[in-house]
Amino acid sequence: MKKRVAVLRGDGIGKEVTDAATAVLESIGRRFHHEFEWVYGLLGGEAIDQAGQPLPDETIKICEASDAILLGAVGGPAWDNNPSHLRPERGLLQIRKHFELSVNLRPVQAFKSLLAVSPLKEEVAEGVDMMIVRELTGGLYFGEPSFHDEEKAVDSLVYTREEIERVVIHAFELAKLRRNKVASVDKANVLESSKLWRKVVEEVALKYPEVEYEHMLVDAAAMKLITYPAAFDVIVTENMFGDILSDEASVITGSLGMLPSASLRSDGFGMYEPVHGSAPDIAGQNKANPLGAILSAAMMLRSSLGMIEEAKAVEEAVETVLENGYCTTEFINIGRNVLSTTEMTEKIVAEIEAKVTDK
Ligand code: NAD
Ligand code: IPM
Ligand code: MN
Repeated sequence: MKKRVAVLRGDGIGKEVTDAATAVLESIGRRFHHEFEWVYGLLGGEAIDQAGQPLPDETIKICEASDAILLGAVGGPAWDNNPSHLRPERGLLQIRKHFELSVNLRPVQAFKSLLAVSPLKEEVAEGVDMMIVRELTGGLYFGEPSFHDEEKAVDSLVYTREEIERVVIHAFELAKLRRNKVASVDKANVLESSKLWRKVVEEVALKYPEVEYEHMLVDAAAMKLITYPAAFDVIVTENMFGDILSDEASVITGSLGMLPSASLRSDGFGMYEPVHGSAPDIAGQNKANPLGAILSAAMMLRSSLGMIEEAKAVEEAVETVLENGYCTTEFINIGRNVLSTTEMTEKIVAEIEAKVTDK
């Protein structure tokens, strides 16, 4: 099979981890006889510097002509004081909106071999396997009016029934394929948007009698997420709560660098990126954990390219390399072999290539 993938490496460690992901996909191509065509595009800070805007038209064209988008991360101190329309993060929000990537899937899985390096007690982290379903194109990130002057600042939290419905339906459908449980997280004791959110969840739930669901206030959910994380199956929530809770949940796995994500349009077209940012504190040092990006590539194989066996091969390789005692520098290190970004990537590639056959 031949597939064309738009590759937006972005800034900082975004470049390093995306290169790791494409190297792993190349090895998948060799093992399963596929050809990947990488088409590189600018996004974020580098795009501001080279093309004068965080999401150039050329990048949109490249993505429109591709089967899926692979993204690193954007942002960095060089652009932190830019006006809002010239911030790298604006480009990320624009591309999500342009491609209507309204459902963001962020799986959180505690790998058995990393339990000892999780900041949580082993017995708390053990067995964690949840899917955070984050609404991605509405809420505070996109509401109007949005401005600030010297005396006043305004952000608007707006949700329509349609925006809530599509992400909630996605969450219930996913729950059916998993453990039939949904926790809908909101702030309905205060926010009007959460009141509508709750109502829509209850209406959707009527169509899924086999799925057990509960409403949870976001403050309590943040607490429960690290005290009893194994209780969660699917979490569905609005844009900003999902952003914050997913970084929190990453801690269970041992590192933010472990978490992948898929941002999906209703027809299945998707953009795949690790949950972490451009990590300016470690950028350019070959230290970044590439596994979140590599696991995002696996999600791309499965969800957008129809390559199920290939996705499993990537995930199995990650699991095996972790079981063999390797990790990257950011883990609380308890007697594991610490690798650089490129060394970790080479280990994963070697694991995939070890199973190359002449079929
Ligand atoms: P960050 O996620 O970049 O980093 C937070 C901490 O986690 C840092 O200490 C970093 O070193 C560590 N970390 C992150 N990813 C890692 C990895 N793969 N391996 C090892 N350690 C890792 O968040 P931040 O520092 O708050 O933000 C930095 C920049 O990234 C900001 O400009 C922010 O807007 C941007 N950002 C972008 C995205 C994205 O593009 N999707 C996501 C989050 C933040
Ligand atoms: C993420 C990031 C982005 C978000 C920022 C960089 C706009 O934190 O993808 O989680 O808040 O969605
Ligand atoms: Mn985030």
